Amino acid sequence: MYEVYGIIGDPVSHSLSPIMHNLAFKEKNIKAVYGAFWVKSYDLAKAIEGIRALNIKGLSVTVPHKEKVMNYLDEIDEIAYKIEAVNTIVNKKGILKGYNTDWIGVLEAFNVKGVKLENKKIVVIGAGGASKAVIYALIKGGAKEILVYNRTFEKAKLLEKKFGIIAKPWEELKDAYGDIIIQTTSVGLKSWESPVEEEVVSRFKVAMDIVYLPLKTKFLALAEKYAQIIDGLQMLLYQGVEQFKLWTGIEPPIKLMEKAIYEEVKNMEKEFLK
Ligand code: ATR
Repeated sequence: MYEVYGIIGDPVSHSLSPIMHNLAFKEKNIKAVYGAFWVKSYDLAKAIEGIRALNIKGLSVTVPHKEKVMNYLDEIDEIAYKIEAVNTIVNKKGILKGYNTDWIGVLEAFNVKGVKLENKKIVVIGAGGASKAVIYALIKGGAKEILVYNRTFEKAKLLEKKFGIIAKPWEELKDAYGDIIIQTTSVGLKSWESPVEEEVVSRFKVAMDIVYLPLKTKFLALAEKYAQIIDGLQMLLYQGVEQFKLWTGIEPPIKLMEKAIYEEVKNMEKEFLK
């Protein structure tokens, strides 16, 4: 019998998770399939009940359900609770537990690229949902100073209270400097825009973007001359690797998964350039 896994989100049709996980199941000879379930917000509670009814073994959760889904689960992992977002559900004998693997994705992306976070001054652009997982990873990684710039200052202030980072006004982003800069807003997604000018990125040694369409965003293209760049697929890959481990207890074939999602994004880029 095949076990069922999947992703819930709105939209999900372009999700790369089915490619990654189905490949990993096949490669590891695990009898399981992973599907994409397009779930509207008003159906979220019913979708979660559906996991129980259909005995779905695990789910990835994506935008816009990562926060609200916490209301319908039996248990929430401590770190997911702190980040206030669940991106992974594990169904253990009918008990649904929520985890967050996004922060591990961020930490591992830096780790595999040989970037040390210890004692670094790090600038984070954006204070949305994704930013929380990034900030948590930076704290775990031992960053010395974390400055968060956000268009809506109050949201950065909330993160200051929650994580002890430093909230900075958006107008001051043009003067930002430090060791590492991380772009967590949706600016540059399917568009050729960057929240900062070239002069700003020139003051950093490492630049990461969490946007991966296009793979090389304008932000990364500007940074490339001065800094080591890390694209958004790295975080996506390693949050998926950690999900697979939570569901199966098995280390997935990371290199194969990586190759597959980069190929797919190249195809998606062709679509987006049309
Ligand atoms: P996600 O879960 O992907 O982080 P989100 O919670 O909606 O999504 O957050 C989006 C982030 O992108 C926020 O930091 C948002 O800034 P605001 O808090 O001011 O809304 C930021 N963002 C989106 N569009 C932006 C723009 N045009 N300029 C600057 N920041 C923008």
